[in-house]
Amino acid sequence: MIKIICVCGARPNFMKIDPIMKAFQKHGGFETLLVHTGQHYDENMSKLFFEELHIPKPDINLEVGSGSHAVQTAEIMKRFEPVALNFKPDYVLVVGDVNSTIACGLVAVKLGVKLIHVEAGLRSFDRTMPEEINRLLTDSISDLLFVTEQSGVNNLIREGINSDKIHFVGNVMIDTLLANRKKAECSLILSKLNLEKKKYAVVTLHRPSNVDNPQIFGQILSAFEEIQKDLKLVFPIHPRTRNNWKGKDLGNRLESMTNVILLDPIGYLDFLCLMANSALVLTDSGGIQEETTILGISCMTLRENTERPVTITEGTNQLVRLTCEDILSHYRDLKSNRYNISGKIPRFWDGKAADRVAEIIHNTYSKLI
Ligand code: UD1
Repeated sequence: MIKIICVCGARPNFMKIDPIMKAFQKHGGFETLLVHTGQHYDENMSKLFFEELHIPKPDINLEVGSGSHAVQTAEIMKRFEPVALNFKPDYVLVVGDVNSTIACGLVAVKLGVKLIHVEAGLRSFDRTMPEEINRLLTDSISDLLFVTEQSGVNNLIREGINSDKIHFVGNVMIDTLLANRKKAECSLILSKLNLEKKKYAVVTLHRPSNVDNPQIFGQILSAFEEIQKDLKLVFPIHPRTRNNWKGKDLGNRLESMTNVILLDPIGYLDFLCLMANSALVLTDSGGIQEETTILGISCMTLRENTERPVTITEGTNQLVRLTCEDILSHYRDLKSNRYNISGKIPRFWDGKAADRVAEIIHNTYSKLI
């Protein structure tokens, strides 16, 4: 049996860990311990995803909650170490690029436990992004690196990572999307919100660089004021964004837009249904750039850079600079094309990435013993 601790902590981790846990079970030969760090804790940021995706209840929840980067990272490390000591795993597996990823990764390697990083190699080349630091550090200490797109392989090789450790397997988050696409069609979210297919855009914003900065957030809101005259905007608000602006001028401006539907964060299936039937998505999320590529929906990414370039070169994504003018000019271009943009499915985004991960870990382990 391969003893492996699987770590998740924040919302985008849950749809990545789910297919991996299922693939381990299907493959056989794995004894898993699922650890939730508690980085995200609101019901609709965490529990809802476990219920909808039928992810097994975490064996352990470290319940770290929110805090500054240092406090959150340190608290995860402190609470994760005794868990790892007690379980004595052969591997710790982390996904994505959140604080839980690097915190548990560091604990593992300092205990001499081999580290696996799923979604390795992505680089925005912007070190002001907390996630970029998490990615660089996690990759540099990992023993097995599973990559979603060719750029990831190139980045890791350039950084001097031994190619034997790198495996281009595809995208586990897309495994989850493909497995749930049919189910999402049964969501009642469109009728609940009185939406017509292709007659609205979906908005998500949570990057500190966008939503913590009043000037930039103000530019984005000015653009939304114009766009919503034309197209309804559906905006499930991340707690960071809501907490920043509630009761303040910018929050009031957002709330006063008559053709914007503001929602609390919603579940995976409802969100997938919303995206799949939208005319357009405006976002600063990483994962949504990939999901819109698979769904064939135009995505305006409100960022200067992306760590997922294949969504632009092959998919339906475009980067948009953070000025009202740029956002509106991209919007008008897309509108004149009826929001259509052509794209193709990137290599290995075929629903089988997690199976490849399980097989490669199994084979690698077999060679060690
Ligand atoms: C984190 C990740 C980011 C990921 C995002 C997805 C890091 C550095 N960032 O950002 O990469 O894209 O998750 O959502 O790990 N809060 C709640 N309820 C919750 C969780 C958070 O109200 O369940 C609020 C708190 O005010 C908290 C703030 O959101 O301080 C930010 O949460 P945090 O986990 O620190 O970072 P995110 O912005 O969610």
